[in-house]
Amino acid sequence: MYVYDSYDHHIVRERVAQFRRQTERYLAGDLTDEEFLPLRLQNGLYIQRVAPMLRIAVPYGLLSSRQLRKLAHITREYDKGYAHFTTRQNIQLNWPQLAEVPDILEELAEVEMHAIQTSGNCIRNVTSDQFAGVAPDEITDPRPYCEIIRQWSTFHPEFAFLPRKFKIAVCGSEQDRAAILVHDIGLQLVVNDAGETGFKVYVGGGLGRTPIIGSLIREFLPEADLLSYLEAILRVYNLLGRRDNKFKARIKILVKATGPEAFADKVEQEWAQIRAGETTLTQEEIARAKSFFTLPAYQADAAQDLTSLKAEHKAFARWLERNVRSHKQPGYKAVNLSLKPTGVAPGDVTDQQLEAIAELADTYSFGEVRATHEQNVVLADVREKDLFDVWQKAKANGFATPNIGTLTDMICCPGGDFCSLANAKSIPIAEAIQRRFDDMDYLYDLGDLTLNISGCMNACGHHHVGHIGILGVDKKGEEFYQVQLGGSASNDASLGTVLGPSFGRDDVPDVVQKILDVYVEKRQPEELFLDTYRRIGVQPFKERIYAKAS
Ligand code: HEM
Ligand code: SF4
Repeated sequence: MYVYDSYDHHIVRERVAQFRRQTERYLAGDLTDEEFLPLRLQNGLYIQRVAPMLRIAVPYGLLSSRQLRKLAHITREYDKGYAHFTTRQNIQLNWPQLAEVPDILEELAEVEMHAIQTSGNCIRNVTSDQFAGVAPDEITDPRPYCEIIRQWSTFHPEFAFLPRKFKIAVCGSEQDRAAILVHDIGLQLVVNDAGETGFKVYVGGGLGRTPIIGSLIREFLPEADLLSYLEAILRVYNLLGRRDNKFKARIKILVKATGPEAFADKVEQEWAQIRAGETTLTQEEIARAKSFFTLPAYQADAAQDLTSLKAEHKAFARWLERNVRSHKQPGYKAVNLSLKPTGVAPGDVTDQQLEAIAELADTYSFGEVRATHEQNVVLADVREKDLFDVWQKAKANGFATPNIGTLTDMICCPGGDFCSLANAKSIPIAEAIQRRFDDMDYLYDLGDLTLNISGCMNACGHHHVGHIGILGVDKKGEEFYQVQLGGSASNDASLGTVLGPSFGRDDVPDVVQKILDVYVEKRQPEELFLDTYRRIGVQPFKERIYAKAS
């Protein structure tokens, strides 16, 4: 994990002091709402429907137990005793008092955390694979590169006022677990025939009002050129991105307008001028970044044969099957803690649970956890010997629901319960679906399936890329839900197709049931939902769901 040096400590503390003065001036009436707006956004603070919302940066989702304990303390002292893990691997507080936000930021600074650049039109928190460093299919650990990008982009003066927000995701494995194709820039680590490390560069992906899958603009970017090439992309965007219309300001609109080839040409031209300049990464610099992500002290005697424990405890066997993943290191496993028990808003954690996660991390996973973009938490380095204990403790604290990757492990934005942009609530929809589909055997039979819910077209809940996507829409002041099918955020990324007219809230679980019925009837042996959908298309689903109308 990256550790702040004295310079980092200094600038974060300076920023807190600066924001404290700004907040005091705002509260005293010396700054208007408009004047305060950019200042608070630069510090992760939104003013929401019922209260302010503070978004705390978690670089590439990595958290230490010390940071978790501090977050527990903050949610207890300054909020309502819970926090929310987001799809960008960040943490949000939904109920802070404006006057106390500088105190929260000061407490965060003590544990090397902040809320800088978590909102506003700048380069946001870089996201990555939650299994970075431990995934067996990993080509190269993406985290040192994320850290290099983070250090370069934080406070980068040229990119502080972009046309719109800017999101970069890096993936180091064959299997994309960071949704890189729906980011402004997606970087896939690769090794070329000569054995050199570099990146495939995708640009112009994104969700929201105009969802677009990113385009490949460079097959191989040598690692040394990472920053100069990113700089070239951002310069082209900064110059040519639209500033006249907020809804057309993202880089995806620019790439679509110029076409990916023409866009790539512009980037190459810009790059030619700065390539081999001062941002070129030296081997020493890359090694320095890598030095923060060395292997923990793995033990040789970590393995255990779990056959008899599995036979004895069916629930443990289920949990192993769904929530535990293989690991590079023999004898070790990566454990998903599910933040999706029925009846809890997906991604919500209480202060006590944060403490419990910290305890698990200290006891069983070298003091670290990772936040996932599916709104769960991962203990990346658990000895097989400890799995049974971890399961029991996770169960006691409410995060052993064995539903990872199933229908009820859904992504869901805060929707109308918190967010002032919402057209409809999304949390109650998630809960209604979880209550309806509570039979684990049925869920396991359905297999891997993603269901994503957003409360409006901004798509924070990634509904476009859910196998089943649900979008809250407003019809003459009433809440309705549009259903989409066939989205994917993986290597085979695709955007869902709208099924047809939207539904009332009470109908949503029935609609989901009918979709699943069609799948179960039509699937071929071992075929997953997405593959069946891709084979048979949307029509059979339409026919079943709108049967009465036709
Ligand atoms: C409650 C306060 C929130 C506000 C005011 C807010 C605002 C927005 C807006 C305006 C967009 C549209 C961006 C665009 O089209 O350019 C957006 C998209 C997005 N937001 Fe949020 N959001 C909130 C909460 C969240 C949460 C809780 C998450 C994660 C669970 C999240 C993650 C995202 C993501 C991943 C997108 C996708 C669009 C893209 O990257 O192109 N946001 N949000
Ligand atoms: S999708 Fe819409 S409703 Fe949901 S959090 Fe984002 S902006 Fe709010």
